[in-house]
Amino acid sequence: MDILSIIEAKKLGKALSREQIRFFARGAGDGSIPDYQLAALLMAIRLNGMDARETADLTMEMAESGNMLYPDVGGVPVDKHSTGGVGDTTTLILAPLVAACGGKVLKMSGRGLGHTGGTVDKMESIPGMRVELPEDEFMDIVRRTGCAVVGQSAHLAPADKTLYALRDVTGTVDSIPLIASSILSKKFAAGARAIVLDVKCGSGALMPTLDSAVNLARTMVEIGAHAGRQIIAVVSGMDEPLGSHVGNALEVKEAVDVLSLRTGGPLKDVALFLGAQMLVAAGVQPDEKAAFAALEEALQSGRGLQKLKEMIAAQGGDPSVCDDVALLPQAPVIRSVPALEAGWLEKVDGVALGLAAQQMGAGRIRKGDEIDPAVGFVMNIRMGDPVQPGDSICTLYARTPESADAAEQRIRAALTFSREKTAPARLLHALVTPQGVTYL
Ligand code: URA
Ligand code: CA
Repeated sequence: MDILSIIEAKKLGKALSREQIRFFARGAGDGSIPDYQLAALLMAIRLNGMDARETADLTMEMAESGNMLYPDVGGVPVDKHSTGGVGDTTTLILAPLVAACGGKVLKMSGRGLGHTGGTVDKMESIPGMRVELPEDEFMDIVRRTGCAVVGQSAHLAPADKTLYALRDVTGTVDSIPLIASSILSKKFAAGARAIVLDVKCGSGALMPTLDSAVNLARTMVEIGAHAGRQIIAVVSGMDEPLGSHVGNALEVKEAVDVLSLRTGGPLKDVALFLGAQMLVAAGVQPDEKAAFAALEEALQSGRGLQKLKEMIAAQGGDPSVCDDVALLPQAPVIRSVPALEAGWLEKVDGVALGLAAQQMGAGRIRKGDEIDPAVGFVMNIRMGDPVQPGDSICTLYARTPESADAAEQRIRAALTFSREKTAPARLLHALVTPQGVTYL
């Protein structure tokens, strides 16, 4: 087998065999194929595509390019993955709720980069919280408490590490087979047997249109069918931050507020929707209706909040933040941003809001940057809401007055008001299961 013949085959649009795909993935993982040949093959795949069988083979071979975990957690290991949103704290709500309903949530999560936040960064705003855990300790926590959320292990799916870095600099990120295999190879390697995917669509999302997001969702569900994993995908909008809180400690606070029944809204609705799919995918509940009822009971009874406390304590954090959110890091400069004119909120540039939080220090400009856990903002209005002059649009939590000034400018520029009544944002667009696509 040689890489040149594989490049030639894909250049001509032929389907690659499992053996050819294995040679490519192994070579990417162990460094034996030079970057220029990997890059040529990536471009051939980007231009000529891969069929469902090839995409499933690529996913398995990328997963098997490094360690594969086979977690023994006393149930079907279930994971949830979002392709990246703003103000999206669903994991911190659904992981404990699903665990409280008998699920085994084994979540490896990324750090934030650019306009999107990362769950492990949010968790690190809890005093003492450890997110870099040895695998056996991570598994043990899932076995005992039902959930753990840790950082992505560095040695899983090494082929993806190499290929993702090359795609980033060769114009080959926007390929459905390459995106699907990249996301799922890491989940498979980490041992997930049931996976719920939240595929975001809209401006600033990996998949800008509903059609492309549904195609990515379908491709990933199909990979599950080939690979013997239960995969369900939800396509959701990211026209507006899901929750009202944007920033690390602020998003933890909002998750605790939801689990304490102090707040609801779209963040809670989407978290329960995704959580219900997790319980169904893992076979814990027979259908969506039963799963919703179980989750609602766990929420109302406070068992979900109790699970979050258990998980925080198991990972070395201070669970009393769940009783008193004021124990989370607090920003020194708190300021309200008033509306200047009457109108309705018509459009929100979610990416611009994410970047405003990043500039305040909540996110990284460069990989490895320190983040400020306390800063960010809370939106006080949503799309479709009316405002009068002087009403608070949002509340800023900043490190300095200058940072608050800059954030105010950015947030104002990210919002479009109308003189006529406007509509709320669509949150859930489609549900994709092995049985097909349902538009919601
Ligand atoms: N996230 C990934 O992990 N891989 C991609 O290719 C795109 C998003
Ligand atoms: Ca209002």
